[in-house]
Amino acid sequence: MKNILVTGGAGFIGSNFINYILKNRDDVFVVNLDKLTYAGNLENLKESENKSNYRFIKGDITNRELVDYIFQKYSIKHVINFAAESHVDRSILGSEVFFSTNVIGTNVLLEASRRNNIEKFVQISTDEVYGSLGAEGLFTEQTPISPNSPYSSSKAAADMMVLSFHHTYGLPVVVTRCSNNYGPYQFPEKLIPLMILNTLNGKKLPVYGDGLNVRDWIYVIDHNKAAELVWEKGKVGEVYNIGASREMANIDIVKLLLKNLNKSDDLIEFVKDRPGHDRRYAIDSSKIQNELGWKPEYVFEDAMSKTIEWYLQNKPWWERIISGQYQEYYKTLYTNR
Ligand code: NAD
Ligand code: DAU
Repeated sequence: MKNILVTGGAGFIGSNFINYILKNRDDVFVVNLDKLTYAGNLENLKESENKSNYRFIKGDITNRELVDYIFQKYSIKHVINFAAESHVDRSILGSEVFFSTNVIGTNVLLEASRRNNIEKFVQISTDEVYGSLGAEGLFTEQTPISPNSPYSSSKAAADMMVLSFHHTYGLPVVVTRCSNNYGPYQFPEKLIPLMILNTLNGKKLPVYGDGLNVRDWIYVIDHNKAAELVWEKGKVGEVYNIGASREMANIDIVKLLLKNLNKSDDLIEFVKDRPGHDRRYAIDSSKIQNELGWKPEYVFEDAMSKTIEWYLQNKPWWERIISGQYQEYYKTLYTNR
């Protein structure tokens, strides 16, 4: 049995990871440590919550005593660190919690990993640490780190620290840097679910600036399969870029969603741009493809239709987010147990 600490496992990518790995393997014991910030939703994990090889612990990765306790109690030998403050717009409004969770929290996990002789530490990072591209070129693992937002600078700081723990102490770390994810259970502050829900609710779709900023989209399960592979096979001390080579301008994503939902482009509203808005992200994922044999499996158009369908079929999930009720689910599960 591999005892894994998954942090941030109640968020979008972490919950998809836990559901995926518990559905597909029986050689893992997963401890999910999540603070349940606004972005954490235990309803994402309904299919996993009663499995005997799964435990949930509500707590903060910056809490050293709690993290030490978890390592000891569950004999943790693997860490996959998804926990983060993840939304760029929020980091522009207030950056402190980004540095507390994304930097200090990662430090707490690294120190505990060092004391407990872990076998692998996977840092789930982002392509945003590379900054912004012009019209040409791709991010490779050699692209200099040049983050532009409080969010991306906190993630870049964490990346540097993680790699330094390998260089200095020989800690077996790997870093992944993935592009923009889409799929089920994404919190409706991010572009795709926000635009789907606004359309369904007859609201305007706020497109920042000229709408020509480009993001490189990947289905969340493709990201999670890559993370699993990097965890098991990734060479320690290395960085792996993850992306599905599907660049789209924001305005084209929004129009695609409207078309799929049979609604008119009149709902689009161009609004004031995000301060410091990165123009273009695009990933060269040849390293993980050549060295570890990963490749994206999902076709963009199919996975996007599947995603839209998921939001249509799971209205109660997002209605409970809009009403705030989702934050009560924890109490129904864990009170009086
Ligand atoms: P998310 O915001 O949906 O989820 C983050 C989770 O972390 C939440 O469940 C939250 O409760 C938890 N959390 C926050 N602070 C915590 C703390 N101090 N202690 C414990 N738990 C805490 O984020 P996401 O989109 O699922 O992203 C997951 C990871 O992947 C992040 O590290 C992010 O930087 C990275 N990433 C995201 C994308 C993307 O497109 N969403 C792309 C590349 C990389
Ligand atoms: O590239 C990976 C990153 O992708 C992750 O590290 C981040 O955690 C994740 O949030 C995401 O960052 P972005 O800033 O690219 O994602 P977001 O969904 O916030 O915005 C996508 C694009 O859409 C971006 O160019 C801004 C634009 N946008 C976003 C929102 C929320 C709009 O035009 N209108 C909006 O209302």
